[in-house]
Amino acid sequence: AASSIPADRVPDMEKRKLMNLLLLGAISLPTVGMLVPYGAFFVPGGGGNAGGGTYAKDKLGNDVIADEWLKTHGPNDRTLTQGLKGDPTYLVVEADKTLATYGINAVCTHLGCVVPWNNAENKFICPCHGSQYNNQGRVVRGPAPLSLALVHADVDDGKVLFVPWVETDFRTGENPWWS
Ligand code: FES
Repeated sequence: AASSIPADRVPDMEKRKLMNLLLLGAISLPTVGMLVPYGAFFVPGGGGNAGGGTYAKDKLGNDVIADEWLKTHGPNDRTLTQGLKGDPTYLVVEADKTLATYGINAVCTHLGCVVPWNNAENKFICPCHGSQYNNQGRVVRGPAPLSLALVHADVDDGKVLFVPWVETDFRTGENPWWS
């Protein structure tokens, strides 16, 4: 830009500060990287993490209490919660009014739009390019190349706990593409 100060006119003090910052960055980044796993080891469960899982959060950021959820969400309901790594994840209520043991990651496998549930159509229909997924998140129409990712939805101490799904995808009989 025309208004920026030419490099040869940057005051020495500023240059020194910049050098210090760069040096600091170079030194401290690896240090932090080494500390993280060390620290994480001592973080007790309950802070949103439990044995590799994450407690589902409702739209207000509160833990989802399974019994309470079923009082306000009827059969065939699919409502977004916050899941693993903060991913928008559908909690599924089965036709028999129980909580499904799986949750569905709402991120479209085409280009990543969050896919809304369409109750009337009994499908997930992506507003971005029209991909469709059945009521379990299995892709039934492109351009999405793959089904929506699954997570386990367990109940731990009354709360819904999402755990990574590493087993066979029960919808396709294939290995999960997401793990
Ligand atoms: Fe969903 Fe393209 S992002 S169809």
